[in-house]
Amino acid sequence: MSKKQKKTFESYYSEIYKSRWTELKDILIKDSDGFCLSDNLLQNYYLDPASRAAALALNVQQGESVLDMCAAPGGKTLILATALRGTGTLVSNDRSSDRRRRLKDVINNHLSEKFRQNITITGHDAAKWGLFEQNIYDKILLDAPCSSEAHVLKSSTHLQRWSPARTKQLSIQAHAMLAAAVDAVKPGGVILYSTCSLSPLENDGVIDKLLKKRSDLVDIENLSLNSGFLEDLSAESTKYGLHILPDKNNGAGPIFMARLIKK
Ligand SMILES: C[S@@+](CC[C@H](N)C(=O)[O-])C[C@H]1O[C@@H](n2cnc3c(N)ncnc32)[C@H](O)[C@@H]1O
Repeated sequence: MSKKQKKTFESYYSEIYKSRWTELKDILIKDSDGFCLSDNLLQNYYLDPASRAAALALNVQQGESVLDMCAAPGGKTLILATALRGTGTLVSNDRSSDRRRRLKDVINNHLSEKFRQNITITGHDAAKWGLFEQNIYDKILLDAPCSSEAHVLKSSTHLQRWSPARTKQLSIQAHAMLAAAVDAVKPGGVILYSTCSLSPLENDGVIDKLLKKRSDLVDIENLSLNSGFLEDLSAESTKYGLHILPDKNNGAGPIFMARLIKK
């Protein structure tokens, strides 16, 4: 692990989070308790309570056509599938073949035949989705690949990959995926954009960029701090969405989420 890289990482985030960074960092290094998903599943699945809140925030209803653009390993897909209860359609996509194998196992091991018969697993590049399907889905979850600072703090391999340029690059990629989601969702349909990043570039920054180019196509919904999907989590409002940060949530998060409605 390069000391210089660690220093750049530290100063990048302490510049953003100021005195709060030390506490955030300490809690991010620890493993936190997962929420146990068990309702309507063949076996329990554990995931971060803030990740669960992001999937619930899409508010999927029976009969809807749903796309999970970056679905592996599949915790959020399980939540979307149990909301559909085998009705409507769910496309669970992930470009990585290794991670897609895990996604397939998670689906097969946790969902009954009835709850998985409406699921199609695909391996497309989410950023190119709009080239092939437009105005198709009622709801889209875009849980974008991000800097995932919790991983950077826990692993020297992730730290080596991290740089200020990488967070910028990830924000550009996320913007391309979000623009594709806007094309793929029906008018009146909803996109839930989420990341587990602490970098504002990858969160509000992606929405800022989208609005500069496509404000004629989307409205951003004002998410209330009292939204039911938050249950006992404490979120903070950002320019466009909510941020659930681990120092205020017993280690749950970070998760940023924003809800976009296509006009
Ligand atoms: C944050 S993870 C998704 C976690 C997942 N939603 C869950 O709840 O288990 C991001 C995923 O995006 C996938 N990915 C990265 N680039 C992609 C692309 N261009 N198109 C589709 N998926 C991509 C990665 O393989 C990774 O599995």
